[in-house]
Amino acid sequence: MRPDQRNPDPACELCTGDLPPAWALGYQDGDPAGEGTRETMLTLGNGYLATRGAAPEATADGVHYPGSYLAGFHNRLVGGADRPDGEETIVNLPNWLPLTFRPAGGEWYAPGRARRIHEHRLLDLRRGIYLRELLVVDRDLRRTRIRQQRLVSMANPHLAGLRTRVVAENWSGRLEIRSGIDGGVVNANTADVGGACGRHLTDVTGGADGPTLWLTALTTGSRQPVAVAARTAVEIAGADAGVPRTVVRGADDVAEVRGVDVTAGVPVSVDKTVAVGCGRDRAVHHPLTAACAELRWAGTFDVLLAEHVTAWDRLWARFRLDVGEEHGWQLPLRVQTFHLLQTLSPHTVDLDAGVPARGLHGEGYHGHVFWDELFIYPYLNLRLPELTRALLEYRYRRLPAARRQAAATGMAGALFPWQSAASGRDESPSRSPSPVTGEWQDDRTGRQHHVNLAVSYSVWRYWETTGDLSFLTGRGAELLVETARFWAGLATYDPSDDRYDIRGVLGPDEFHDGYPGRAGQGLDNCAYLNVMVAWVLARAGEACEIQDRHPGAAPWRTAEVPAAERGRWRHIARRLRLAFLPDGILAQFEGYDDLAELDWDRYRQRYGDLRQLGPLLQAEGDDPNRYKISKQADVLMLLYLFSAEELTALITELGYDFDPARIPATVDHYLSRTTHGSTLSRIAHAWVLARTDRRRSVDMLLDALGTDLADPAHSSTRAGIHLGATAGTLDILQRCYTGLEVRGDVLRLNPQLPERIDQLDCVLRYRNRLLVLHVDHQEVRITAGPGGDQPVPVAVRDQSLLLSPGATVTVALGAAPRSAAAPARQLPHPGRT
Ligand code: BGC
Repeated sequence: MRPDQRNPDPACELCTGDLPPAWALGYQDGDPAGEGTRETMLTLGNGYLATRGAAPEATADGVHYPGSYLAGFHNRLVGGADRPDGEETIVNLPNWLPLTFRPAGGEWYAPGRARRIHEHRLLDLRRGIYLRELLVVDRDLRRTRIRQQRLVSMANPHLAGLRTRVVAENWSGRLEIRSGIDGGVVNANTADVGGACGRHLTDVTGGADGPTLWLTALTTGSRQPVAVAARTAVEIAGADAGVPRTVVRGADDVAEVRGVDVTAGVPVSVDKTVAVGCGRDRAVHHPLTAACAELRWAGTFDVLLAEHVTAWDRLWARFRLDVGEEHGWQLPLRVQTFHLLQTLSPHTVDLDAGVPARGLHGEGYHGHVFWDELFIYPYLNLRLPELTRALLEYRYRRLPAARRQAAATGMAGALFPWQSAASGRDESPSRSPSPVTGEWQDDRTGRQHHVNLAVSYSVWRYWETTGDLSFLTGRGAELLVETARFWAGLATYDPSDDRYDIRGVLGPDEFHDGYPGRAGQGLDNCAYLNVMVAWVLARAGEACEIQDRHPGAAPWRTAEVPAAERGRWRHIARRLRLAFLPDGILAQFEGYDDLAELDWDRYRQRYGDLRQLGPLLQAEGDDPNRYKISKQADVLMLLYLFSAEELTALITELGYDFDPARIPATVDHYLSRTTHGSTLSRIAHAWVLARTDRRRSVDMLLDALGTDLADPAHSSTRAGIHLGATAGTLDILQRCYTGLEVRGDVLRLNPQLPERIDQLDCVLRYRNRLLVLHVDHQEVRITAGPGGDQPVPVAVRDQSLLLSPGATVTVALGAAPRSAAAPARQLPHPGRT
């Protein structure tokens, strides 16, 4: 029996099917409370278009939430009480799914209308298909079985399809089928903030043209057109059922109804093929004509399916990450890869779209972009580097907005807002509901200014990994220089001890936004910020020097950065102030040591789950700023982003006597005071622990892998996946446990596989070569793909090698034999709901 089965139905093709368990995410039946999360996890997308896994017969009713989204397609609703100028929000598109049936004279099937005897849903990850089997019985005891296959094409990003087989099990007679497009949708997947929820579509028009149903609408604020065209074919026994149809036009929707005579046990096949387009598409005149043309040229559902599966085959070959199936890790790893590719795929490369924190799977954070890309690019750099570049160029296009944002705070340079969307202006809310009480309160998270540091870090790591000189010396250098200018402007010089201070700012830890009694006023000399600033100032200077040496490569000239300015950066990068605790531990910010210790036992007893400790304290009338507590990795982010050697060098260059032997104590100090209220926190900590406490690192990784899979009923996943954690978990295996880094143009490996996995196999794309990597506890094996005339310099631990095209090298690790395998920890199985 498959793990997702509880009440197997011998007639259900999914219960009896042979889909390999490590390729199938399954749900059988399920409680209403968890439905939103299941819909998120059953989302299909292609990096351009994504559609939640809602049932085709469902409407938004508090349990179900049909939602479809296009990457980077936002709208602003104006006139809200809180923010009259609204907020840029990802738009819930017209719903292309609607498809239902009824025995003539009966009721259209919808959730709750007939008794659901069995419902089984499976995501076939390998083929990118959502399979569903449903058995219902109506008031007149007619049993009808529905089998569905759904896809959002990975071959042609504008196309999607839904195949439905209807089998009247114990009745014969007239069956009516209704297939439509619903433009009456609203954004209602999350709490409203600043006017994000509500109706984003207006001017809905729909009709029929030959076999095609179509519907267009405009977004209310940006007046962007969006279009959906659909064609529905009905067949019995492989032949066109040839039945006439009636087109029904509503105020905001359009549908067609067909009647066919069915015989008990003989399936009726209904294939709905859909094309979607919007006003931001390239190389189109109008999205409606484009969608109709796509549809006209699209093949049958079988053709669509074959093209889609081929595209997924290619993607899986490129995104392979195998750890063997015996420990139960393979399925969650594939689920992560799958959902990352739903949001960011090769199709995203041509779009003007960023990295929404909650994927294209729901309306969490209203589709906004934060700093989460920092956790995603390192993985993409070694798989699809042109995607990282495209996403960094999304940031580059928003430099003018970031310059205005900096200017608004009285600064030079560029400041990417904490939350932003299409235009790059600041979309951070000033108020939001407390996750504990639901009461609206001031939201000061938007005062985090570190997004530009994350972007700059990503520019440099992209360049190091790819050697893409034209990017670094052009747009990359401009991003670095503008970030350097902003932070250099914030740094104030204190001649008394020749130090620079950065005051009144916030680090990543959202439990601290000021000193006790001065909430919201910011903190001084945050370790994360000051070390990152020192590093970015140095890299900005280096980028200028590289550009000086390659003047032909860049349209933008860093020569405009005067020597005096570069000199000031160098000085700041050596003299920024850091604070330390008495025992040599890096302090999160100046004054951190004066904060109180929390009585953790008391709070654990009182609340159990402390992830939302900050809001819990606020609900008690207390102030989280009073305590040594952290929502997420902050100081320890530095050990996630830099190796211990790099960090030691950075702090030493700042003129501090830093003893790397204090790193384990630093990790213990912060880890024992962190609640992981952000899913990003476990990624950073799993990484940091990998070299000191591998068992805890793996536990942390497993928790992160379970983020979107566990406990559907109590999960914020209903509003989208956690994309940073999704990619971050994959990257821990790809780079952290293999010890992979690119330094000095050499690809270095220093594997430390956890005991709980026997081997790791993956495919990397490094400097235009495909490398097939195998790591186990005894050896590392790398095979270079053919092509390229230069060998790739590689180092495995201390051994340096040159890997010629097509060659394989094997290096023994000389590892001590492993101790007896630790008992495998069980991951939450997604199918148990
Ligand atoms: C975290 C941020 C993160 C955001 C979006 C918040 O809970 O604290 O660091 O960027 O979620 O994922």
